[in-house]
Amino acid sequence: MSDWQKNTWRQKPRVQMPDYTDAAELSAVEAQLSKYPPLVFAGESRALKRQLGAAGRGEAFLLQGGDCAEAFDQFSADAIRDTFKVMLQMAMVLTYGAKVPVVKVGRMAGQFAKPRSAPTETVDGQELPSYRGDIINDLAFTPEARTPNPQKMLQGYTQAAATLNLLRAFSTGGYADIHQVHQWTLGFIESEKAARYRDMANRISDTLDFMKAAGLESESNHNLKTVDFYTSHESLLLEYEEALCRLDSTSGKWLAGSGHMIWIGDRTRQPDGAHVEFARGVLNPIGLKCGPTTDPEDLKVLMRKLNPENEEGKLTLIARFGAGKVGEKLPPLVQAVREEGAKVTWVCDPMHGNTIKSPSGYKTRPFDAVLREVRDFFAVHKAEGSIPGGVHFEMTGQDVTECTGGVHAISDENLSDRYHTACDPRLNATQSLELAFLVAEELTAHRETRAAEAS
Ligand code: PEP
Ligand code: CO
Repeated sequence: MSDWQKNTWRQKPRVQMPDYTDAAELSAVEAQLSKYPPLVFAGESRALKRQLGAAGRGEAFLLQGGDCAEAFDQFSADAIRDTFKVMLQMAMVLTYGAKVPVVKVGRMAGQFAKPRSAPTETVDGQELPSYRGDIINDLAFTPEARTPNPQKMLQGYTQAAATLNLLRAFSTGGYADIHQVHQWTLGFIESEKAARYRDMANRISDTLDFMKAAGLESESNHNLKTVDFYTSHESLLLEYEEALCRLDSTSGKWLAGSGHMIWIGDRTRQPDGAHVEFARGVLNPIGLKCGPTTDPEDLKVLMRKLNPENEEGKLTLIARFGAGKVGEKLPPLVQAVREEGAKVTWVCDPMHGNTIKSPSGYKTRPFDAVLREVRDFFAVHKAEGSIPGGVHFEMTGQDVTECTGGVHAISDENLSDRYHTACDPRLNATQSLELAFLVAEELTAHRETRAAEAS
């Protein structure tokens, strides 16, 4: 790509980025970061791209999930472990429903910078810059805290590196053993009054017993003991992204070294803007959020820019319309993809179109609306003859009360009990696993319809 360099985004209109006040300090931080090791290796991003390509063909299924915003003060081994653990449980249940491998991608190890609906916030007559995520400024409502501080990029890098280190250890060090993951799920079914999921869990138990009896579990079968776990985040803070770009000597292409996959948010996908410009030149798989305002003609332009070689797995379209809007808004986009002959992987984010303000004043998302959007997404793909390739959730392994509903029937009154998110409301561990069971049912139905049509 001759007209692209890692800094050509600087010539394009930028939105949702901070105005740093001290240019010299910013440059010093960028220079420092650009000497640090990348967090990921190009071969890993290429492997993820292949797996996302398989998801686009219906031969794999993507589970992408994690915090809306990772926070510096909530950084702990337990929090990382708990989210990793519930994602493995979800992946196992989804594998059972889909009968294809589940590609696991965390919104982790770099998901710090946030787009905001307004550049400033006013409290009691005082107007200050909005909070934009811990890698940019602080949540506290004081002028000092809200001033964008480039030094925070260094702390973001350090936290991302430590998070990724622990994820890599969990993935290969024995924690991810399939039997252990299944035992956790059985525990959930006993303790959470989730008896309706027992039948599927029993069938998974039977399968594992059968594999053991048939001698399919030799010590050398690493597939049962280790997992591939990838990282992703919104590529929003482009100074950070540029500073972590590295040339891949194997391919001669540039890697965004900040994470395996990066995505472009709903507010930053202007075809001629800075964020699209940065993403179009890196070799990583790219996600593109598609919302109610995505125009089918713009989508065509974006697909050509972001995936000029029409590679499988390069571009994941993350649909986030809101329950009740999918049936109207998604079909024209699926048709645009078809008209272009574009290779994409369609994924459903049922979170960002379903955020409401509860009567008690908290930002929340009703579990039922989240589920309804997933079901609408599957229905549209069935009607259009296209492939639902995955799901994208804001979730945590912690027992928070941020989204309403689910087996514990969290109510508006409960939200204040454990509302900890630094940004949008997340599904808690129980709600996440419950949703996985319900999505697995959709996947089973989808698979059975396709098999019936093929025979
Ligand atoms: C997000 O994924 O946290 C986000 C801000 O999403 P969107 O860009 O789709 O609104
Ligand atoms: Co969010």
